Amino acid sequence: MRHFSWTGFAALGVALALGFGAVGVVAQDKEAQIQTRRDTMKRQGADFKAIQDYIKGEADQAAAAQAIADLQSIAPKIIDLFPPGTGMDAFPGKTGAKPEIWKEWDKFKAIPAALASEEQKLAAAIKSGDKAAVGAQLGDTGKNGCGACHTPYREKLS
Ligand code: HEC
Repeated sequence: MRHFSWTGFAALGVALALGFGAVGVVAQDKEAQIQTRRDTMKRQGADFKAIQDYIKGEADQAAAAQAIADLQSIAPKIIDLFPPGTGMDAFPGKTGAKPEIWKEWDKFKAIPAALASEEQKLAAAIKSGDKAAVGAQLGDTGKNGCGACHTPYREKLS
C-alpha cells in the first residue's frame, strides 16, 4: 500500500488557497490601476474644458493657467498609468485600453513627449492672453497629443 501523508495533502491545500488568494489580490490591484488611469484621463478632460471655458469667456485666465499647469504635471506620468495586464482583453467593459498598446509599446510610449511639446505651446498661448491662439493650440494639442493616443489605442466605453 502506498503511504499517504495527510500533512503533505494539507500543505498542498494551503498552498493552493494562498495561490488563488494572490491571484485575487493582483486582479484587484489591476482594477485599482485602471481606475486611477481613467480618473487621471478624466482630470485631463476637465482641464481641457477649463481652457475652453476661458476661451468662451466663462472662466478667467488664471483658471486656464492652472489647468495647463495640471496637464503639464500629468504628461510625464501618463506612461506609468499603463502597467502590463490592464488592457481590455483582460478587463472587458472596465477599460477601453486596447491590447495594441503593449504590442506596440515603443511607439505608444513616445506619444506623451509629443503631447508635452504641444502643451508647452499651449501654456505660452495662455500666458499671452491671445484667445484665438489658445483656441488654435488647444485644437492642435487635442489632435496631435491626446488624439495621437486615442485614435489607435482607445476604445470608447459606453
Ligand atoms: C499615451 C496615450 C494617451 C494620451 C497621451 C492621452 N490619453 Fe486619454 N486615454 C487613453 C486611453 C488608452 C484611454 C482609455 C483608458 C481606459 O479606459 O482605461 C483614455 C481615456 C480617456 C478619457 C476617458 C476616461 C474614462 O474612463 O471615461 C478621457 C476623458 C481622456 N482620455 C482624455 C484625455 C486628454 C484630454 C488627453 C490629452 C491632454 C489624453 N486623454 C491623452 C490614452 C491616452
